[in-house]
Amino acid sequence: MPKIFALVPAAGQGTRMGEAFPKQYLPLAGRPMMFHSLETLAAVDRITAVIAILSPMDRHWGAHDWSAFPDKIEALFAGGATRGASVANALAMLEGRAAPTDWVLVHDAARPCIGRELVEQFLDEVGDDPVGGLLAMPLADTLKRSEGLLRVSETIPREGLWRAQTPQMFRYDILRRGLARKPEATDESQAVESVGGMPKLVQGANANFKVTFTDDLPIAEMILARRVADEETSS
Ligand code: CTP
Ligand code: MG
Repeated sequence: MPKIFALVPAAGQGTRMGEAFPKQYLPLAGRPMMFHSLETLAAVDRITAVIAILSPMDRHWGAHDWSAFPDKIEALFAGGATRGASVANALAMLEGRAAPTDWVLVHDAARPCIGRELVEQFLDEVGDDPVGGLLAMPLADTLKRSEGLLRVSETIPREGLWRAQTPQMFRYDILRRGLARKPEATDESQAVESVGGMPKLVQGANANFKVTFTDDLPIAEMILARRVADEETSS
C-alpha cells in the first residue's frame, strides 16, 4: 500500500489579513488557526505523517503547544517565497523517504474548517487513481470579467468551471515533476496539469473555505464551534 504524507503549507505572511503576525497563528476557536488542520489530518489513520511547512524565520511555532500530536506531526522550517516553493522544498526533503507512487496530500493551514469526514471521503474517492485529485466546488455565481474600470466587459459562462480547494493529493513523482516544470503554479493541480496529468475532481464543501480576510474569522469560528457541538452530541 502506498503511504500518504500530508503537507500543510504554513509559511505565508497573511498579508491580506493585515495582522501583526501571520494568519495561521491567529487564535481561532481557542487554538492557533493551523492547529485545526493539523489535528484533523493527524486523526486520519491512513496518513503516515503530517508535516507543517514553516518559514525558516518562523518565530511562533515554538510558542504553542503541539503535544496533542505525539509522533505524527513534524515541523519543517523550509518554506519558500511562494506556496509552490514551500511545497517543492518539502518534496525535496521527502526524497528517499517517499516512494515515487506514494501519495502527497497538501492542505492549506488557512483552511481550518475541513472535517475529518470530508478528508476520509476525499481519500476514498481518489482511491488508487494513477495521478490524484483535488477537492473543488462547482461555481454557483455568474462570472464577470472587468478590464479594471469597475465596468463589466464580459460574462464568462460558468458551465464546467470549478473553484479549487485543498486537500489536493498526488503521487510523489508526478507532483515533483510538475512543480519543477511549473514553479509558479498556484496550486498542486496546476503543476500536475503542466506535465500532462488530469487530476480527479472531488466535490468539496463551502465550509472548507480559505480564511483570507479579517471578516472570514468569525465565519470560521462559527463553523468550528458548531462542529465541536455536533461532536459532543454524537459522542
Ligand atoms: N503559504 C506557504 N508559503 C508561501 C505562501 C503561502 O506555505 N510562501 C501557505 C500559507 O501559509 C497558507 C497557504 O499557503 O496556509 C495558502 O496561501 P494564502 O492563503 O495565500 O496565505 P498567505 O500567502 O499567507 O496570505 P496572503 O496571500 O494574504 O499574504
Ligand atoms: Mg498568498
